[in-house]
Parts: sequence; C-alpha cells; structure tokens
Amino acid sequence: MDKLEIRGGRRLDGEVIISGAKNAALPILAGALLADAPVILKKVPHLRDVTTTVKLLRRMGVDVVFHDGVRLEIDPRGIAEFLAPYELVKTMRASILVLGPLLARFGWADVSLPGGCAIGARPVDLHVAGLRAMGADISIEQGYIRARASRLKGTRIVLDTVSVTGTENLLMAAVLARGETVIENAAREPEITDLANFLVAMGARIEGAGTDTIHVDGVDALSGTEYTVLPDRIEGGTYLVAGAITGGTVRINQTCPEHLDAVLAKLDEAGADLTIGEDWIALDMAGRRPRAVDLSTAPYPAFPTDMQAQFCALNAIGEGAGTVTETIFENRFMHAQELQRMGADLTVKGNTAVTRGVDELKGAPVMATDLRASASLVLAGLAASGVTIVDRIYHIDRGYECIEEKLSQLGADIRRIPG
Ligand code: UD1
Repeated sequence: MDKLEIRGGRRLDGEVIISGAKNAALPILAGALLADAPVILKKVPHLRDVTTTVKLLRRMGVDVVFHDGVRLEIDPRGIAEFLAPYELVKTMRASILVLGPLLARFGWADVSLPGGCAIGARPVDLHVAGLRAMGADISIEQGYIRARASRLKGTRIVLDTVSVTGTENLLMAAVLARGETVIENAAREPEITDLANFLVAMGARIEGAGTDTIHVDGVDALSGTEYTVLPDRIEGGTYLVAGAITGGTVRINQTCPEHLDAVLAKLDEAGADLTIGEDWIALDMAGRRPRAVDLSTAPYPAFPTDMQAQFCALNAIGEGAGTVTETIFENRFMHAQELQRMGADLTVKGNTAVTRGVDELKGAPVMATDLRASASLVLAGLAASGVTIVDRIYHIDRGYECIEEKLSQLGADIRRIPG
C-alpha cells in the first residue's frame, strides 16, 4: 500500500489550481444514465472514486471514454445490466447514486446496500422511502435493494433528515417521473445545484435547487449535453488550511469563493489575511501561528463536516483552546488518536473534540482511516517537526487529485512511497 512521507516544518508559499469537485462529479456521472445520447463532461477529477464509478458504469454496458485526459464521454445507449454489485458498492458508498437514475430511466435497479462505513451507520432509508413514495416497488433481498417501477410518479417528499446523496437520488428519479415532484427539506449543497444545472442542460425542468424546496416537472426524455463540473470546495479549503497551519501564503485558483464562506470565516478567526477574487482566494499568515477556533458542522451553508478533520489539525497547533463539534456523522473523529500520536493535546467527549494547541507537533508514523481524516494527518505532518509517514493513503486518493504534486508545488517536502 502506498504511503506519503512528509518532512514538516516548511512554510508553504505558492499557488494551486483546484480540481473539479468529487461530490459533484459522482452524481453527474450517475445522472448521465438518464440521457438518451452521449454526455461529455469536463473537469472530472482523476480520483479513485471516479474510477470506481466509471468501472460501475462500464460493468452495466455503458461506454465511457477519456479524450485527451480532460474530456470524459459517456454513452449510456449500450446499457445491458441494471446492477451495482457488492464488490464495487462496498468500496464506495456513493454507488447508491445509480439507484434513482436506473429506476427512472429503465424501471429496474439492483443496487447492493453499502454496508457499514468507517464514519458511522450512514443508512439509505431516505433514498428508499422517497422512491417508494414515487411508486417504486422496492424490496431488500440478500443485501440488495431491488427496485422496480413502470414509470415513477411525481409526488411531495419531505426528507426527515437533510441528506446530500438522498436529495440527489430523488432529484434524478424525479426528472423522468410523470408529473410534478416537490422535495422538501432538501440539501442545499452547491453540488446539488451543479447536478441540477447538468440535468437542466439535458432538458430537465427543475426549480429551487440550492434551496430547501426543489420543484421538478417530469419530462419524457433527456438528451445528451456537454457540461463542466464545478470546483471542489473541500479540496480548496484543505489547501487553504495547509497555508494557515504552516504560517504560509497560499493562493487557490479556479475556485468558487462563495462556496467557502463558512470555512473562510473560520480561517479569518484563526488570524489569516484573506483576499478574495472572482475565482481565487489568497491566504496569508505572514509566518504567524494560527489561533485555535470553535466550530460546529451542519448542512450547507454552515460549516462542512468534510472540513472538520482539517481544522482539528489546525487547532492542534493553534494558539489557545478550540472545540470542533460534529453534528452530521457519529464516529467521525478517527483522526483524533493519530493526531495524539503526533503530540496533539486533544480529547474527544461525545461529538466534540476539545484541543489545547501545542507549540509543536512531532512527526510520526500514522494511519489514514478515511478520506478527510487522512487529509488532516497530511496537514499535521506539514506543520510537524521531523518526518511523518501517512499509511493507507488510498483513502486520500479517493478524494484529492495529485495531492503530493500540488503540495510540492506549494513548497512542501512530500513524496509518495509506493508499497
Ligand atoms: C455526502 C457527501 C459526503 C459528506 C456528506 C455530508 C457525497 C458523495 N458525499 O454524503 O462527502 O460528508 O454528504 O455533507 O456527496 N442519513 C439517513 N438516512 C439516509 C441518508 C442519510 O439517516 O437515507 C443521515 C446520515 O446518516 C447522516 C446525515 O443523514 O447522519 C447526512 O448524510 P448524507 O447527507 O446523506 O451524506 P452522504 O450523502 O452519504
């Protein structure tokens, strides 16, 4: 298994281009199943989760071709199987995103249940209940969701909990349903708006994406289109924290600053000087040590759970005490123990991590446990003295495109050790 070796203590200084968003690319790839002609996507990041989705689509008989490494062409016309098998779903929960499109377009979907996940139970009951409300016949057999429908019917769905992929699955089902669907208590993440924009480009009729009530007028068919995936706000936020944690100067380019409001507010509290352009953000710590911050995760537009671990690392070397409260997922502090091994003074009580910043973290061998936890270990390694080896970085490769190259470009001493 590959590892990352980081020699910490260097102040980062430079610019980095932000990739397309993983969490927008995955639903959009699934959404391509709804089209009756090829779809061309640009800015799809080269990530393990994207490769897994492409594998899943190809297994179904969908033709997926990369052109010049920048354009991805998906032709769903050859689809022959409506199945997401356990071997693929278990490696990536987001495979559940094919459920809505398969059912809406072909009336048939066998999708493996995702099973346990390292960051909590993460059920899919809302996806299933919403599709049932639209008239689908769904049973759970031998670990599979078996869903059948002639044509889904529009209806009013009130989600009990704000769910990102739940909203996306129901949105993709609704665009080809008969009549109007209203999704209430919908998630408002920018990735949902991006998916909606993509579906509209294919001919869907959607209003209110990005608010908590989405109206969809079902259409009979969707055409092919060409679409560019939005920038990854979590990747962008992670590089800004990399600048802050090392007392450095980092500019992120090709980003959407407005999607990072909650994160920028916390970086400002941490003492960063921020300059915001139309599609770039510059952070300058001028060699200062960051101040520890208090934050609580919540659905967008509040502070994202996917940035929580990175701020735990920042708090670990921040001035003063800081608290990070996780309200979306249980058991999402697996980075805490690893940060402690690097010298962090951090205690987890219930869903809150309380940190007293130390003057220095010390490099150590640590283990990545999930995607964002791994990012926090890399950040801690950049700030620590000595050498940090982060093991099991396949988690990082799920969500960060060329992380060691981008960090090297910013002046970090980091290299991949193939294993
Ligand atoms: C998505 C993101 C993930 C992010 C998360 C929260 C993708 C591919 N992944 O995950 O990076 O961390 O949003 O912003 O976009 N829940 C239920 N029943 C359901 C569905 C969800 O109870 O049927 C609960 C979950 O257990 C969790 C909460 O709802 O407590 C939010 O989860 P959800 O928004 O669905 O997360 P994902 O869509 O899986």
